[in-house]
Amino acid sequence: MRPNINYLIAAGFVALIFLTIIYVTAILPASTFQPEATRAANVYVEGSPQFKGREIYRREGCFYCHTQFSRYQDREMGELVKAGDYVNETPHVLGTERTGPDLSNIGGKYPDAFHWTHHMNPRVVKPGSIMPAFSYLNDQEMSYLVAYLQEVGKRRKPPAWVAAPQEYRDRYHLVAESVDVNSSAAANAGRGIYMQNCAQCHGIQGRGNGPVSISMQKKPANFTRPFYRSYDDATWFWRVAEGVPGTRMPRWYKTLGDESMAYVAAYLKTLPQDAETPVANMDDIDRADKMDMNYWQIEAAKNSLGQNDPFQAYAPTTFKAAVGGAH
Ligand code: HEC
Ligand code: HEC
Repeated sequence: MRPNINYLIAAGFVALIFLTIIYVTAILPASTFQPEATRAANVYVEGSPQFKGREIYRREGCFYCHTQFSRYQDREMGELVKAGDYVNETPHVLGTERTGPDLSNIGGKYPDAFHWTHHMNPRVVKPGSIMPAFSYLNDQEMSYLVAYLQEVGKRRKPPAWVAAPQEYRDRYHLVAESVDVNSSAAANAGRGIYMQNCAQCHGIQGRGNGPVSISMQKKPANFTRPFYRSYDDATWFWRVAEGVPGTRMPRWYKTLGDESMAYVAAYLKTLPQDAETPVANMDDIDRADKMDMNYWQIEAAKNSLGQNDPFQAYAPTTFKAAVGGAH
């Protein structure tokens, strides 16, 4: 019996449609979609601890329980991933099931010691965890695995931890056309404003140790912290303008104009140091008697004493003599 030609044609069409779907959804994307490596892509140099750790991650089946992709609809998994983050992930360990949390941003989240302890026995650091113990891994394997985990997503850091909202970026860009916040003239103008308005709380040297700080629960910011290097100009501007809700830091936009706030920002950005100068005891507080001068007198004293910080060697008589008997 000859097969009905119509059936053959129909079967041909079905096969064609099937192959087209395979081609469009699998073969075409794989051959044409070649994203550029992003800044966040993990790097595995062959033979490196990270590389070997990744093998262990695969061997132990960590990806049965852990994913490595954070999507729009996910909450609390850190920054989103992009296609180019995966250029070095072959074969991938994306995982499909989240019995445990997503690990795309695990690098740098915990110290190494946490991972060691957690792998030895997850219950020690996370009571109630259902993650199995991997205590049978030897020290060598363990250190590779931890090196791998610390690599995953460690480059996917936000450029700054605190960033000004767009509204303030725009406002700042306008004022930056007339104030060059990188100039020492602007910083100097800002210092004047600072000494008049801010030093009583933030201290003469910006260590958060002004006399008024004594009575405060939430102490004023210590601008010598290296962390503040991560603030860009617009962020300084915004923080000064809006204050810090829940603290006694005022909202300066209510009294200072945009230009003045830009001057202050120019000064503040000169304060962060390589290491924070902490305020450890009462003697570190700028005392009221030290503050009983205005900025220009302090500057004059500084110059005549030839010291950066006149208070370091402060002795009331010599100092007042140097200031020229202003008080
Ligand atoms: C049976 C499922 C399962 C397996 C297999 C598993 N985990 Fe987990 N993992 C979990 C669960 C559940 C949690 C959440 C509780 C906790 O932190 O222990 C977790 C948490 C973690 C965390 C902490 C995540 C965070 O952001 O706090 C890390 C890191 C981790 N696992 C790594 C691994 C590694 C590496 C392996 C393989 C050696 C592995 N896991 C295997 C289930 C699993
Ligand atoms: C009444 C005391 C007080 C005065 C006056 C004051 N501040 Fe503050 N300031 C604070 C406190 C308190 C904080 C909150 C610190 C914190 O959040 O840990 C703060 C925080 C800040 C911050 C934010 C730091 C951060 O971590 O983002 C900036 C910037 C700042 N002050 C600048 C200024 C400037 C500039 C002036 C003067 C124009 C000023 N402050 C005057 C008390 C004061």
